[in-house]
Amino acid sequence: MSFDLVVRGGTLPDGRVADIGIRGTKIAALGDLAGAEAGETVEAAGDLVSPPFVDPHFHMDATLSYGLPRLNASGTLLEGIALWGELKAVMTHEEVRDRALVYCDWAASMGLLAIRSHVDTCDDRLLGVEALLDVREKVKDYIDLQLVAFPQDGVFRDPTAWGNTLRALDRGVDVVGGIPHFERTMAEGARSVTALCELAAGRGLMVDMHCDETDDPMSRHVETLAHEVNRLGLHGRAAGSHLTSMHSMDNYYVSKLLPLMAEAGLAAIPNPLINIVLQGRHDSFPKRRGLTRVKEMRAQGITVGWGQDCVRDPWYSLGTADMLDVAFMGLHVAQMTHPDEMRACFDMVTTENAKILNLEGYGLEPGCTASLVVLDAGDPVEALRLRPDRLAVIARGKVISRQARNDPRLTIDGRPGRIRRRHAAGGNLG
Ligand code: FE2
Repeated sequence: MSFDLVVRGGTLPDGRVADIGIRGTKIAALGDLAGAEAGETVEAAGDLVSPPFVDPHFHMDATLSYGLPRLNASGTLLEGIALWGELKAVMTHEEVRDRALVYCDWAASMGLLAIRSHVDTCDDRLLGVEALLDVREKVKDYIDLQLVAFPQDGVFRDPTAWGNTLRALDRGVDVVGGIPHFERTMAEGARSVTALCELAAGRGLMVDMHCDETDDPMSRHVETLAHEVNRLGLHGRAAGSHLTSMHSMDNYYVSKLLPLMAEAGLAAIPNPLINIVLQGRHDSFPKRRGLTRVKEMRAQGITVGWGQDCVRDPWYSLGTADMLDVAFMGLHVAQMTHPDEMRACFDMVTTENAKILNLEGYGLEPGCTASLVVLDAGDPVEALRLRPDRLAVIARGKVISRQARNDPRLTIDGRPGRIRRRHAAGGNLG
């Protein structure tokens, strides 16, 4: 047997230890491949080998713009939206493209190889759309970039948003987005959900709406979204992002809502870094967390994936493109600390998110696309605890990023020691 590339002795997320044989862009064999010839070898030596990280919710048109044209003084969602409007008026295609490409290097170095990014369609020039279409093409050999047509200022509230959203979809944007809680009234919000779901169904596209990103327990657009997804047969092809109002909803109402979401096959995408920062800003004490009901959804069989949302932009000043940071925050805020729950949190930034994006060929089995990441950790829970270095990242059969293992010369009080340093931002694509 011979392979182009063999990853030797990795520990898979389910605990199996196996070699992975790669031919071309596909995984050709999984098991004991001792004696097989390999054009190139990656020694995993017991380290965790995972399919790549997947981010189901991001804003690549805004990323790495922190401080432009000014800081978000109040730290709120609404000032962030206003600030983004100021930046949109002055940004250029090249700036958006270049910031996004830097971010894609960060992502690739972290083993984050599939990203669903919303792109603002409330712009008559469609500048962000054109820039991210450009980026999608440039990174296609190592990152699956799925774009969502996102009318940030409201598809009905903004006078040209509907037409611009249609134009963005005509240009090749993949998914239909929306923001019902930002429309002028609850009724307009509900009407926008119906119109956008019908648009998606008519074009055979997926749906992913920013939905009820508020502390208002009466923001119930998720109910309309579940109903329309069910009515239009969009099962397994629709997601509600954020759903933070569910944190504050009446428990009896939620006991009816969760089965409706499950019946519709509607996925949920909480974004814990952002939700914990932006929600509860109008509260005194006790102050609500604002994260949606993750454990309760999972118990109903609803697919839930952790999203990142923002990195260094008008809404969030930090971020590293590390989906383990996202899962780490999520498991704390959702109190998912049992080992089974922590393993689920790892799945929620890998396999569950791949399901939400409907990625083809995702996984480590023979026949899957040969994209994977080797982490300096022994298992998924240790990976969450350490958020460790990514020793190797392979995209479509090619090693695109490598990092040396921790410096063995380190000593602590005269003993050999190990540090768990973090990856330097910026990537090292070869
Ligand atoms: Fe978002």
